Formats: sequence, structure tokens, C-alpha cells
Amino acid sequence: MCGIFAYCNFLKEKSRKEVLEILCNGLAREEYRGYDSAGLCVDGDKPGEILFFKEKGKVIGLRKKIAESNVDTTKTSIAQVSIAHTRWATHGPPSERNCHPVKSDPAADFMVVHNGIVTNYAELRLVLQKRGYQFETDTDTEAVAILLKYVYDSQPDKRISFTDLIKTMLKELEGSFAFVFKSTHYPNEVVTARRGSPLLIGVKTDKKLKVDFVDVEFAGQEAVTKATSDSLAPISPAGLLAPPVQKISRARNQSRAFMTDDGLPQPIEFFIASDAAAVIEHTKRVLYLEDDDIAHIADGELHIHRLRRKDDQAQTPSQVASTRSIETLELELAAIMKGKFDHFMQKEIYEQPESVVNTMRGRVNFDTSKITLGGLRAYLPIMRRCRRIVFTACGTSYHSCLATRSIFEELTEIPVSIELASDFLDRKTPIFRDDVCVFVSQSGETADTLLALRYCLERGALCIGVVNTVGSTLSRETHCGVHINAGPEVGVASTKAYTSQYIALLMMALQLSEDRISLTPRRNEIIEGLHKLPGQIKHVLDQDKSLQTLATGVLATSRSLLLMGRGFQYATVLEGALKIKEISYMHSEGILAGELKHGPLALIDENMPVIIIMTRDSLYPKVQSALSQITARKAHPIILCNEDDESIPKDAKTIRVPKTVDCLQGLLNVIPLQLLSYHLAVNNGFDVDFPRNLAKSVTTE
Ligand code: F6R
Repeated sequence: MCGIFAYCNFLKEKSRKEVLEILCNGLAREEYRGYDSAGLCVDGDKPGEILFFKEKGKVIGLRKKIAESNVDTTKTSIAQVSIAHTRWATHGPPSERNCHPVKSDPAADFMVVHNGIVTNYAELRLVLQKRGYQFETDTDTEAVAILLKYVYDSQPDKRISFTDLIKTMLKELEGSFAFVFKSTHYPNEVVTARRGSPLLIGVKTDKKLKVDFVDVEFAGQEAVTKATSDSLAPISPAGLLAPPVQKISRARNQSRAFMTDDGLPQPIEFFIASDAAAVIEHTKRVLYLEDDDIAHIADGELHIHRLRRKDDQAQTPSQVASTRSIETLELELAAIMKGKFDHFMQKEIYEQPESVVNTMRGRVNFDTSKITLGGLRAYLPIMRRCRRIVFTACGTSYHSCLATRSIFEELTEIPVSIELASDFLDRKTPIFRDDVCVFVSQSGETADTLLALRYCLERGALCIGVVNTVGSTLSRETHCGVHINAGPEVGVASTKAYTSQYIALLMMALQLSEDRISLTPRRNEIIEGLHKLPGQIKHVLDQDKSLQTLATGVLATSRSLLLMGRGFQYATVLEGALKIKEISYMHSEGILAGELKHGPLALIDENMPVIIIMTRDSLYPKVQSALSQITARKAHPIILCNEDDESIPKDAKTIRVPKTVDCLQGLLNVIPLQLLSYHLAVNNGFDVDFPRNLAKSVTTE
């Protein structure tokens, strides 16, 4: 939720036009994270002058506003820092007023862009208001900007460094954040910090980078003790009223900078972003920040410091890595472009024959029927001995767990429970050292899932990640895991990640059960099914035209749609219903066919559209009886069935898919539902890739 982007140029002169273009392009790549408003600020022509551009809605509107402004775009400069933001509204409605960058005061002493939620903002705001500070927006972020100004104003000689200022201020914040700060008091400097929200720094230089890592600067033990006792008085409601103490302890050791042989800073550009997709067109060299890292960029140098919180006595430097490595992204720009497709969602649906192969590549040996998930190998004995496996996820990722639970239990004979991350935390679910906890997430940044992970880590369970985004927080904080390798998923509605997660979880079950000889025929059948899958997915995609017709025909005017299935197909109907509601805004509900007579049957009449999944498996007769129950109530269901199924009533509307092994059938059945949701949304003129009120990466609780 919310994308932040900043550009720091110490390489060569750039025109303002070029800088604005870099910022808007960066925001456009992160737009999936929120598109309620977009904004940026760059240095003006005079010292201390800042130019703001803000617009409600998407980045395209911001671009237009910039183009229509009379700002001199030809002006060139170097050593400038510019910050930008695309917003998913949490505090305050989407509006130009609530748009970031948020400033501390009309003169814009301090500017900040923020992803996350500051939970104690209301208290901070109240206290700062009592101190005479004025607020102009409804955002939680403004309390941060004004608090920063307050801390600065409290310094009699104003000689505090930008980093120390931010450190002091951050200690008063509760909640989650990724911030980038800019200030007229510290021209050409930028400070960025994270706790709970993703943040990375892209590094680009014409020369070869001389280092592969950046040292982290820890305050020595003595300095930390001083910091707690001598730092500014806490800006808690009580603390604000106490006179602030001016002395700030300084960290001592210099962290690594990018130097040339003659000891001068290397000509360099830095790109700060929430997502690697925003920097990939400039550089593949990135450095991921950890929680409580504070990075300071000035004069072409990057320094990383650690924030020690008031309540954080436990973390000593030895528990936190002392360097941040500069990694090389494998992502290609083409992978995050739409290509010949109208929408990212459409492209991602069509990528599935390939993305499922990428998930299996190097892991499934179709000749020997052996599965090797390298990341799990060392942990297999623990997994096999565990008391139960708890899967935790949200939304579509949760559905992938549901889709594979039954085969997991069948193959491993280990009890499996699956949890929606938010509910798991609400219930404070008991977790033990001999549990294995699996966290499934496309983004690897979903706040609820991350909180559930930390909860399980604290309780000593083995924690495994099943993640798409390489370098994400989830992939870094789990003990081990599997990357699903589906490639970047940009469309807010998740499609190819679902099918790849499904396969990754299935591979996990297959690997865990490889020592069970009695299961060999079943395992071989599934692996054979996986082999045929890409071709079968292509075959389903070939039916796109008829699904488009269905969407423009009978379903076009419906206000509601019920989807029914059972067994392996329960997850499919939930996932199909989620896709339909999130992008076409049509009410849709996935119903377990076995539950029909316990309530939902009351909804059925001749006007209620129903899709019922009747692909052949052991539960087929039971679904047939559900079909009879609804047709007896005059429903005219659309039946999603196997191609060769002769027993479907001749006059029924059908969606036909190839037959595969029961536990894989959901992978084929979900695709027509993805396509149907896509066409329903397109027909209604809705913005498929940016459904209202949603964002791709939900980094708030
Ligand atoms: C629906 C969708 C969401 C996500 C959910 C979890 O299409 O995309 O329901 O699945 O927000 O996100 P991740 O998988 O990133 O943890």
C-alpha cells in the first residue's frame, strides 16, 4: 500500500524534465501499490525553494499536471534529491490535500513520503497542536513531518545532523513505515528508514561498483546508553511538555561510502523505492534495507545506521548483520511491461502455461518422478517429525493453501491447518516448537502475514516461506522456503501467483512424501499430471472468446453470481468469486456445495446466476445432487465440467476444460473464472489493473 520513490543524482547534470520523468516513471511502476493520488517534489530555482506537484488519482494525472504547469523544465542541475509517492489512502480521503509528499509547514522545512501507518499519530498530533503547530491534512504522516520540525526547532544551535534528527524523531513513532525525508535545512541530503514496510536502494554508476556491500553503522554500547539517557525527551504527550535535552549522541564508526581510487565520492545515482520494479530500468544493483535501518545519502555517499528503539534492548549488533549486500536483480524490464496485452491481469493470465513451468523448473524431474525443493532439503527431517503444519496467508494466497490442503494431508499424513493471517493473530492461536508454519504470499510484504510469521518465530516453530518476490521481507525473515518463480505480478488481482503457489505447495507435499513407497503410484500420477499441465492450460486459454461471450451475454446485467463446488473445487469457487468481486465489483460468493441445503439454497431462483463446478472426481455424484437441487428451484446454472463429460444435460450452458488428476483439476478450473472476471470488468469499463479501493501489496494491518 503506497509506493515511495526517490531519486538522488550525483552522477551528471540532468534537466528538470529528465528528473521529473524519472520520478513519474518510478511512480508508474509502483502504481499497483496504490492509486488514490500521486505527488512529488523537486528543488526549485532559488535556494530553499521546493516545487510540489500533486494530483488526485493516478500518475497519468500527475504527468498531465506537470506538463500543463509553467515550470521551467530545461533547468539543469546535479546533486539534487527528489521524492515521490503514489498513495493508497488510509488516513484521510483521497484528495490533493492529503497527497504526499507531506510537509511540516507552509515553508516546507521538512518533506516526507510514507508507506505504512503511524498508529500513535493522533496522540502526537494532539500534543504538537498544543505546542502551536498547525495541521493541514488528515494524514498520519503529517504528524511525522511536524514532529521532525519540532525536534529541529528544539535544537538551539541547529547543528544536529539530518540522520540524528531522524533517529531522535523515529524513536517516538509506533506502527509501521518506510519513509523518505528531504529538508531545506539539509539541501541535497536524503534520509530513508524502514520498519515493517519494504524499502530498497538502487545504485547506479558509470564506473564499476567498487563494493559489494555497505557496512552498517551501529552506535557503540556506550553511545547507546547515552542516547537513551541524554537524547531528546520523549515526545510522548507527557514528554513534549518537558523541556527537551539538546545533547544527541553520535554514532562513531563511518559506514562504507562509494569511493573512487583517489578517495573522492564515486559519480553515482541512487533510487529509493518500495519495489525493485521501480528501479530496474535504471539499475539492477540494489540493496534491501532491514527493519530499523536508516540510510543517509549525501555527496554521492550512502551510509546505513541502525535505530535502537526505547523498547529494543534485545537486539545487539551481533544479532543484526553488520553489512547490507548489494544484490544483482534478475528481473528484466520486459517482465514488468504489458507487451501486446491490454492489461497486466490479462497478460498474467496468459503467462500461466509458462509461469507454471518456471515454478517446476529444476525441481520436478519428470524422468525419475523426483521432486527437489533445494531450500527445504535440510529441513525435511524436522518437517516429517512435526506435530502439524500450519499454513497462514491472506486472500488468494490463502485459497492456494485451501486448494492443496487435502492432497497435503493425503500424501504426508501430517495434520494440516490453514489460517487467514488476520484471524490467526486475532485468536492468538497456540503455536508450539514442534509445529511447522508455512507462510504463503505473492508479495512477501503483506502485513498480516508478516505479523503472523513473527508471532510463530517467537514461539520457536520452524517457519517456511512460499513467496514470489525475491528479496521480500517474508523471504528474508523465514528460516527457509520456496520461491514460486512466477515472475513479477503487477495486476492487483492475483492470477499466475495462485497457480504457481498451488504447484509449489503440491511439490512440497510430494517431496515430503517421497519416502512413502505405498504412495508411489499416486505420486507418479500427480507428477505425470504436472507434466501435461502447461499444454492443458493453453487449451483452456483457447476458450477465451466463448468466455468473453458469456460475460457480455447472460452475466452482463447480473448483480450477483454464486459459484458452487466441493472437495478440491471449494478453493476454486472461493478464488473465482474473489476475482469476480474485486475487479468487476459484482457481488459473488463461493459456496461449498455440501452446505447448500444449510442456507444458501434460499438464494436460488430462476433469476440467480450460478456457476457450478462439476469436473470428474470422487465427489461427482454429490455435486450432481447439488445440481438437481438447484435446477429443481428453476436455476439455470452454467456448468464447468470436463470436455468429454456426456452426462451433462444437453441444454445446459457449459464451460469445458480438459481432465487431469483430481488434485490438479483446480489449476485448470480456475482459469476460465479468471478470464470471466476479466471480461466482466472490461465490459463494464472498469480499470482491471487498478480496482477501486484496493492495492496489490497490503502492508497495513
Ligand atoms: C486477490 C489478491 C489478494 C492477495 C492478498 C495477499 O486477487 O491479490 O487477495 O492475495 O492480499 O497478498 P500476498 O499474496 O501478497 O500476501
